[in-house]
Amino acid sequence: MSAPTGGSVVERAHAKVNLHLRILAREAGGYHQLETVFQALELHDTVEATPEGGVSLSVDGSIETGPIDDNLVMRAALAFVDAHGGGGARLRLTKRIPAGAGLGGGSSDAAAALRALDRLRPEPLGTAALLEIGATVGSDVPFHLCGAPRAFAWGRGERLLRLQAPPSRPVLVIDPGFAIATGAAFGWYDEKEAAHGAVPRAFDLDDLRFDWPDASAVNDFEDPVFARHPGLRAVKALLLSTGARAALLSGSGACVFGVFDDDAVAAEAAARVQDSLPAARVLATRSIG
Ligand code: C5P
Repeated sequence: MSAPTGGSVVERAHAKVNLHLRILAREAGGYHQLETVFQALELHDTVEATPEGGVSLSVDGSIETGPIDDNLVMRAALAFVDAHGGGGARLRLTKRIPAGAGLGGGSSDAAAALRALDRLRPEPLGTAALLEIGATVGSDVPFHLCGAPRAFAWGRGERLLRLQAPPSRPVLVIDPGFAIATGAAFGWYDEKEAAHGAVPRAFDLDDLRFDWPDASAVNDFEDPVFARHPGLRAVKALLLSTGARAALLSGSGACVFGVFDDDAVAAEAAARVQDSLPAARVLATRSIG
């Protein structure tokens, strides 16, 4: 990303949304097979790495991220040093992406930390080595390492087909102000699945190869998550009523996002959503094209 200054490197950690997400099967170990389309957003955190003997992490910004030792940046950095030796780094994470939001912030931070640590090596290991570590840190980390603004992912989300993204579009991300743990959301899905049985709908990847979804886009987390947080269903309806061409829960939530065709419509929608939901945070960003 930016050139090293005083021995430090800085990497951007972009947020993602899921333009499509289907949960396909539950593995014996409890993990789920899924298929999804990731789209990167301009909204980002930054990770700065300065060479140092051990690994340490400080976090700036107003986002609550929990204990440092549980931070995916820390876990990724320790896994990197364990696997490949060499020096460690003092890591500084500047947080803007809400946590527990379905925006892949923690995974993206981990990916940025791996890229930064690799750049500090006299001979960088390259993406393949980082992907191997990344997949052990979190299911969304590989997407954030793959370098594509859009990708189709399957398996646990670690198998990727890079896609070309269409030109940048305005995206509104609505942060309701509470977090949802991914593991809990999968559990809610499993309960609902047992109760009702899911009827899979066919998905044609060509629809999202160089285009945007419409209001019929699918995220299998919506039913179980909206059942527990009905306010989120209302946020989705509000975004669609303000002119979003598509609005979905992102990942397992708790954020809901809308994709807009037009900047003026998006700006007006942001004001209307903020008026209707004074407790929510409306983040206006764009997709990466
Ligand atoms: O991979 P990540 O750490 O984000 O996953 C958090 C939790 O979500 C896992 O511990 C697991 O319970 C659940 N999960 C799953 N299937 C996936 C990804 C995550 O069941 N494909």
